[in-house]
This record gives sequence, structure tokens and C-alpha cells, in this order.
Amino acid sequence: MHVLAVLGCALSLVSLVSLLSPGVADEQCPPPCSCSSLGDARGTRVDCASRGLRSLPALPRLTRSLLLHNNSLASIPSGALDGLGLLQELNLSHNPWHCDCRLLYLRLWLEDAAVAALAPLRCASPAALRMRALQRLTGNELGPCKRLLPTKCLQFFWRDLVLIAGAIISLVLAACATTRCLNNP
Ligand SMILES: *[C@@H]1O[C@H](CO)[C@@H](O)[C@H](O)[C@H]1NC(C)=O
Ligand SMILES: *[C@@H]1O[C@H](CO)[C@@H](O)[C@H](O)[C@H]1NC(C)=O
Repeated sequence: MHVLAVLGCALSLVSLVSLLSPGVADEQCPPPCSCSSLGDARGTRVDCASRGLRSLPALPRLTRSLLLHNNSLASIPSGALDGLGLLQELNLSHNPWHCDCRLLYLRLWLEDAAVAALAPLRCASPAALRMRALQRLTGNELGPCKRLLPTKCLQFFWRDLVLIAGAIISLVLAACATTRCLNNP
């Protein structure tokens, strides 16, 4: 009984300490990256540079410094950086950014929070925008986002139409087979 009580006490003490101590990541370090505490400053330094990343990893909420340079990132999902309230240092250079309307989120976020990190970013694609600075693109060059939705909707519309037509034809054929209208007209 004594052993259990002492063990339980020790466990709750450990979890209390890890909750209270600043700078300790309260979430996992994303696998290809390495994380370190930033000394007396609150927050974590997350080093994901040169890891061959094609997408943004799940980041600790207390990320203060984020290194993502020299990867294969083409875009950052809309909203992905919004939860990182402590983020101060960010390096996104040397990535093959695909400059279309989906990159608008990143540009606006950087304009607000980290202009220094925006300045070196260059587009890798589409061909017409290759090597252009993301910071200098106009709204027109980033592509009209509205066009994305109707194309997708139209695809779904035709796919649904084909499915519905297929279902109706099978129903008619099944009805015909049961009433033998095909065999005995
Ligand atoms: C960039 O990353 C690759 C691995 O993805 C590595 O081999 C290369 O050395 C890195 N280049 C620089 C300049 O760090
Ligand atoms: C980002 O990293 C590159 C190395 O790839 C370095 O030359 C550059 O100074 C860094 N930029 C910022 C804003 O820290």
C-alpha cells in the first residue's frame, strides 16, 4: 500500500512539474524535426530544415522559432499557422512554392507577422511566375480563387449525374427482368 501511495504521489508531482515548467514542449516534436527548449524564453525551437518535407508537419502549440528552409514545400494549408501564438522566428526560404491563390494565406500571414521571412520567398511554379518574388505578386497573378470551386462543383455534378443515370438504368433493367419484358415482349 505504501509503495503504491508513494508511486502515485511521485507521478502526480512529475506531471505537475511538466505542466508548470515553461519552455517544455507539451506536445510531441513532429518526427523528422528536432526540437529544443529556448532557455529562459517560453517556447520551443522547431528545426525542420533540410528534411525533404513536402507538407507542413503538425507543430507544437508553443513553437517560437520554426526553421523550414531547404525543403520541398509547395504550399502551406490555410489556417495552419494561426494557432501558433508564440511564433517569432520563421525561415521558409529555399522551398519550391507553387504560387496560386492557395498561397495567399501564407503571404497575408507573413505580411502581418513576419515580413522579413516573406522577402526571400520565390515561386518555383507555375512556369509564368518562376523565380518571381511572392511578396511582389499582384492579386491577379496569384490566380482567381473563385474559379477553383465551380470546376470542382461541375465535376461532382457530372459524376453524380452519371451515377444517378446508372442507378435508373439498372432499376429499369431489373424491373424488366423480373416481369420478363425482355424475353416476352
Ligand atoms: C538541403 O536538403 C537536402 C536534403 O533534403 C540536403 O541533402 C542538402 O545538403 C541541403 N542543402 C543545404 C544547403 O543545406
Ligand atoms: C534562412 O535560412 C537561409 C539558409 O537556407 C539563410 O541564408 C537565411 O539567412 C535565413 N533567413 C532568415 C530570415 O532567417
